[in-house]
Formats: sequence, C-alpha cells, structure tokens
Amino acid sequence: MKLPGVLLKIFLPTEVGITLVQQSGQQETSSFRSLQRVLKSLGTYRWLALAALVSALSLTVTYAATPQLFRWAIDQGIAQKNLQVVLYSVGWLVVAAVARGVFNFGQSFAAEAVSQGVVYDLRNKIFSKIQTLSFNYHDQAQTSQLLTRVTSDVEQIRTFLGTNLIQVISAGITLVSIAVILLMMNWELALITLTVVPLSGGLLAQFLRVNSKLFQQVQEQLADLNTVLQENLLGVRVVKAFVRESVEAQRYTNLNQSLVTINMQTIRAIRNTFPVIFLLSNLVTVVVIGYGGAAVIGNRFSVGELVAFNSYLLLLLQPVLLIGFAAPAIAQAAASAERVYEVVDAVIEIRDRPAAVAFETCGGRITFEQVCFRYPGSQTEALQGVSFETKPKQLIAVLGMTGSGKSTIMNLIPRFYDVTSGAVRIDGRDVRDFTLASLRSHIGTVFQESTLFSGTMRSNIAYANPDATLEQVIEVAKTAQIHEFITSLPDGYQTIVGERGVGLSGGKNNGLRSPAPC
Ligand SMILES: Nc1ncnc2c1ncn2[C@@H]1O[C@H](COP(=O)(O)OP(=O)(O)O)[C@@H](O)[C@H]1O
Ligand SMILES: [Mg+2]
Repeated sequence: MKLPGVLLKIFLPTEVGITLVQQSGQQETSSFRSLQRVLKSLGTYRWLALAALVSALSLTVTYAATPQLFRWAIDQGIAQKNLQVVLYSVGWLVVAAVARGVFNFGQSFAAEAVSQGVVYDLRNKIFSKIQTLSFNYHDQAQTSQLLTRVTSDVEQIRTFLGTNLIQVISAGITLVSIAVILLMMNWELALITLTVVPLSGGLLAQFLRVNSKLFQQVQEQLADLNTVLQENLLGVRVVKAFVRESVEAQRYTNLNQSLVTINMQTIRAIRNTFPVIFLLSNLVTVVVIGYGGAAVIGNRFSVGELVAFNSYLLLLLQPVLLIGFAAPAIAQAAASAERVYEVVDAVIEIRDRPAAVAFETCGGRITFEQVCFRYPGSQTEALQGVSFETKPKQLIAVLGMTGSGKSTIMNLIPRFYDVTSGAVRIDGRDVRDFTLASLRSHIGTVFQESTLFSGTMRSNIAYANPDATLEQVIEVAKTAQIHEFITSLPDGYQTIVGERGVGLSGGKNNGLRSPAPC
C-alpha cells in the first residue's frame, strides 16, 4: 500500500513554517475554541458543506459495497459456475468504481470550495482589521508576524477545512461502518481483523509522540530560513554596500543544510515506522486467511466471504493512517486559528466616541492643554504637561533633540495616539470629539519615511484624493518641487512606481523623499 500524497505533504511542508509549539493546557483549550469558531464559520457555506458530507457518506457506501460484490461474484458466480452472475457483478464493480470517482470528486471539490469561501472571508476580515488597528498595535506587532498570520496561518486553516476535516470525518465513518459489516459477517473473525485498528493506531500514536519534536524542528528551521531570506530581500542594498554577500550566502547555506538534515531524519523515521505498520496488517491477513480458511473448510464460511473479509482488512488500515496523520495537522490548524483570531479580536484603542461629530470647518487654532503622554508599554512619559496654542495660518517649526518628543506632538493631533491626560483641541474642541475619518482627512501629514504604493506617480500623489484632476496633481507636484523631475521621466505622471518605489532609480527615488517636518 502506498502512502497517500497528503500524508507526505504533512511531513514535508514546503510552505512558510508554522511552529507547532508545545502548549500548556490552557493554550490548548483556547486554540481548540478557535478551531470551533472556524467550524462555526462553515455555517455561511452550509449547503456546500452538506454536499461534501453527503459525498463522503456515498463514497463510504461504494467502498463498503465493493467487497460484497466480490463475495457475490465468487459465491454465486464462480463457485456455482454461473457466468451471468459473474458478468453482472463485474458490471456492478464498474458502476461502483465510477461512483467512487464521482463521489471522490464531489467530496474534495465541495470541501475545497467551502474552504476557499471561509478563508476568503477570513482574509478580508483580518486585512480590514489590520487597517483599523491603532498605531500602538502596530508599534508592538511585528510586521513579519502579521504577514504570517494573513498568509500561512490562514492557509493552514484552509488546508484543515479543505482536506483534513473531510478526511477525518469520512475516515471515521468508514472505520465504523466496516467494523459493523465485519461483525455482522462473522464476529470472531471480525474481532481478529479489528485488532489491526488499535495496534496500528497505537504504533502511529507512538511514532507521532516520538517524532513530534522532529516535525516541530522542521517547521522552526523553515521559519529561520525564511527569516534570513526576508531580511536579505529587504536589506539587499545594505548587504551589497558592506560587501557581505558571501557571509549572507554562507548563513543561508548553513540553515539550508540543517533543514535538509532534519528533513532526512524525518524521512528516515517515516521509512522506519511504516513498514512495521504494514507488516502488522499483513500478519493479520495471514491470521484471517488461516483462521478463515479453516472456517471455509469446516463449511462455516464461504470463499467469497473470506475474500470480502480480506478486502475490508485492507480498507481498514487507510482511515487509521489518515486520522493519525491528520491529528498533528489539525493541532497546527488550531494554533493557526488562534493566532488569526487574536488579530481579528484585537481591541481597537483609538476609535470614534459614541457622540463624535464630523470635523468640517477648520479655523486653525491648535491648543495643547497640559498634555501628558506615555507610549503604551513605555516606562517614561514622552510628553509631560505640554501646553501651547497656535494661531491660524501660523507656520511653526518645532525644534529639539532627538527623542525630545517632536514627532509625538504631531502624532497627537490626528489622534494617531490619544493623550494620557490633558487635551489636544482644534478651535477649542477636543480632537477626541471628532470622527477619526473626518479629522484625519483634514490634516496633511508628511512622514519621516515615505511610502509609495504600487501604481503610477499620479496615483501616489493623489493617494488621499483619488478624484483629484491632473491639474491639481501637477499643482501639488510643483509645490513639492518634483514636477520637473516627473516630466523628465519618459512616462511622466504615468510612470509606474514599483514595490516600495524601486521602479525608480535609487538616486532619483531619494529625490522623491520629502524632508520630514519634525
Ligand atoms: N512608538 C513608540 N513606542 C514607545 N516609545 C516611543 C515610540 N515612539 C517614540 N517613543 C519615545 O518617545 C520619546 C519621544 O520620541 P519622538 O517624539 O519620536 O522624538 P523626536 O521626534 O523628537 O525625535 C522618545 O523617548 C522615544 O524613544
Ligand atoms: Mg521625530
């Protein structure tokens, strides 16, 4: 018997690694709860889910029927020399084979469709949540962590819903129904045959227990390898500038080597265990043939029944293996679900007050009133009792040492953070009384680090106001003294600005960066 492809996939993951962390009891229950939440989200796609389940049930029926057709062909056809029965049973066997194909397709297609739907919703949910989370969340969350959650954690959930879940359900149904059929056919022989289930299940559990550390290491190594890759992709210019290419290449090679080593260890472990499980099932076959053969000679059992029994025995092993291998993948999916929901449920600290009003007219008088501010998680206050007032249309420069709080002052006006005590007012009204969207859309901000989005020069300039006319865009570009540079480009305002602005040459890209205001 060959290992199904999915089993190997679990062992030899090629995607970004997810670490299966040794969990404490409490974490286990909360990741289990997250998995329950994933299952609840199936409700949106209940008809497709039902179709997958019905297909799985029908598939089991066709599997269970096949040995009975053998029995019929042998006992009523071959033994009685009745060619018609043989031909009929052959016909039915073909029907069963075709039906298996159809239901197999139905089962996996429906399950995959459900999983695509669920993760489509989940991805959108987590993305828009990330958009609404406050600055202080992003200060504390690592970008690579968030990326992993939106990509590989969500993918893990998709694999669980699209593959593992339906496999485990149908494996369970298959196990129970075959056990019942065997017990009905001959309970003594059935009991002997069924010993293969706890024995191989036990072996498999033992194998997973001993080797779970190994699988965990594979995931960790993969994560390490990807971290180096990510660092090098982002920092490729730094690497080149300091002539560290060969050092970085060596670092990558070493990690790559350990990944191969640990993968080979896993493969060795698999190759050692599975022959034992198959040997076990072969031994049980021998017992079935011996005991059953004697029963056939003693006329207590027919040849057809014996053949059917043997076929069921082969069918029994598959669900045990499937459940065994799905278990760690399900544990991973649960951990992933927990990480995803952690973001989905994160508290949005800066949001509209219930009675927030729209910010419409701006006189331009900004008042800081005894403002104290401490960054979340920080021990010291960045601002302590700061008070000042600006007059409309005043141009103000804030000077101070690095770390004296200039940027912090700016961050409090559009409510990137809220004051710890005191108040920031515009025209006498506390900024916390305005709706966030209206407040921020009336404040122009030039960040210390400029970010370009993939698109054209024009769309990047008009980022805050996509309906701006070309004339308006040109006017703004002239103010920023970049109009001439843009028109010198072959495509002018239609020049495509690539990922992080690398579509532009390095020097010119720097020219794009506006000086930081504070
Ligand atoms: N996101 C942050 N989380 C925690 N502390 C911060 C954060 N940003 C700035 N700080 C701290 O707040 C103080 C003021 O920083 P900042 O306003 O950026 O200074 P400036 O712009 O004047 O150089 C510094 O001590 C800095 O370390
Ligand atoms: Mg600053």
